[in-house]
Amino acid sequence: MDNEGRSKANRIFERVLSEIKPSKEETAETIAHINAVMARLKLIVDTGVDIRVVGSVARGTNMRGYADIDIFVLFDKNSRKEDIVKRGLQYGRKLASGKNDRLEIKYAEHPYTRIWLDDLGLKIDLVPALKIGDARERGTAVDRTPLHNEFINANLTDKQRDDTRVLKYLLKSHNLYGAEVKIGGFPGYLCELLIHQFGSLFKTLEFFSVASSPIILDPRTRNSTKDESLVKKFNSNFIVIDPVDGDRNVAAGVSRASLSRFILLARMFLKKPNAETFYGRGFSSISAKQLVDQFVKQTGSGLYLIETTVPDKSEDVVWPQLKKNAGLISNLLARYGYEVYLSAVWVKARKGYLLFSMPDDKIPAILRKGPEVFMRKAAENFMRSHRRPIATIVRDSTLCFLESNPYPSATALFKNVLSGKLLGSKRNDVTFKGARLFAGKIPKNLAFEAYSEMLKKITI
Ligand code: UTP
Ligand code: MN
Repeated sequence: MDNEGRSKANRIFERVLSEIKPSKEETAETIAHINAVMARLKLIVDTGVDIRVVGSVARGTNMRGYADIDIFVLFDKNSRKEDIVKRGLQYGRKLASGKNDRLEIKYAEHPYTRIWLDDLGLKIDLVPALKIGDARERGTAVDRTPLHNEFINANLTDKQRDDTRVLKYLLKSHNLYGAEVKIGGFPGYLCELLIHQFGSLFKTLEFFSVASSPIILDPRTRNSTKDESLVKKFNSNFIVIDPVDGDRNVAAGVSRASLSRFILLARMFLKKPNAETFYGRGFSSISAKQLVDQFVKQTGSGLYLIETTVPDKSEDVVWPQLKKNAGLISNLLARYGYEVYLSAVWVKARKGYLLFSMPDDKIPAILRKGPEVFMRKAAENFMRSHRRPIATIVRDSTLCFLESNPYPSATALFKNVLSGKLLGSKRNDVTFKGARLFAGKIPKNLAFEAYSEMLKKITI
């Protein structure tokens, strides 16, 4: 890329940084709040238990107004897992003892507590882990986190921490940031490692804009390879080896779609560095509704929305089930002639939603392709299994039947899904019994979610 493009890109990065980097005052306040929490925790934890602030706040890669504090309570490395989980939850309950404090138990590798402290206005993840000095001693997956802190703090310059913040914001603006399964995006630690690997945000984008698969990065040496044995070992085409644990791929949770969208984004931004591409068309923008309306109009597409009840489980459990069911329904639709342009799923207030956009047409007949006429046995079998075609058609030498569609409209097919006839009435955490179908128009109270979920799919 020429120098002019490079300086244009860097000007945009600087502008973004000035908007998203916590101010000196905010940082001072965060530190004061953390000290207050540490003092409270010291009175709560047993002797021999260390308290450590980890995560982006402790690494100088956090974003403004985003005071999410990750605090680890570290136990002797010979402790039993059940024991540290139990004590971790006890500490959480004690910490959240204020009148308006809130507490939620989260389930990752093992349970931990999320706490909202009312008087300090803080959200804290309090995670129990083992005190280890080396990843080989690891008892649970989270035990490496303090080691991540040490690696990042030893290896990133201040400028690179700022670049990490801008990269995170770029990804966030395009719904590509974060480790939750729902997003399948780039976790914070991965962003830090990418900036370390390539030296700057600009160089990171340059790498991805021309990257070919597999992408294998080793932040320990800052080398990049195409080593097929690693592809086998990690069963992935996007590998970033954890510098504190060579057996772990930090990019394991990044979905193929997220990686692909990031590559496209890097290409687009470098080709023409401008603020619009950087920020994307987030739902906050006024044009969002227009954009979706325009999409619906130009595709002439029908919108179908299923509303189901989901169990009171964590979104990390329910969401993948919804997504799987949306995939099954999309396949069924395709089999009967309805090609889904895009589908989206989301969870809100114990309801699960599955949205499909596709051609609105009725499809009374479908063409079934059979074997070559010359293959006598196969052709006979085909004719026997399709007894009453509307018409028999020979295309070149291929035998085809035009049959009447058992689901002459998408609504008919959806009704059979909801009645349990097509997929069964319950698949894992998704019940179709009692589910509702909205065809054509999305109800007003659901429009915001529907539009923002769709928008994530139709913008880069
Ligand atoms: P966070 O998800 O809070 O990330 O995990 P973060 O780096 O602090 O980024 P933001 O700014 O809050 O979004 C805290 C730490 O836990 C470890 C990483 O070391 C991470 O920095 N972690 C988290 C993992 O190793 N794997 C995960 O999937 C999640
Ligand atoms: Mn964090």
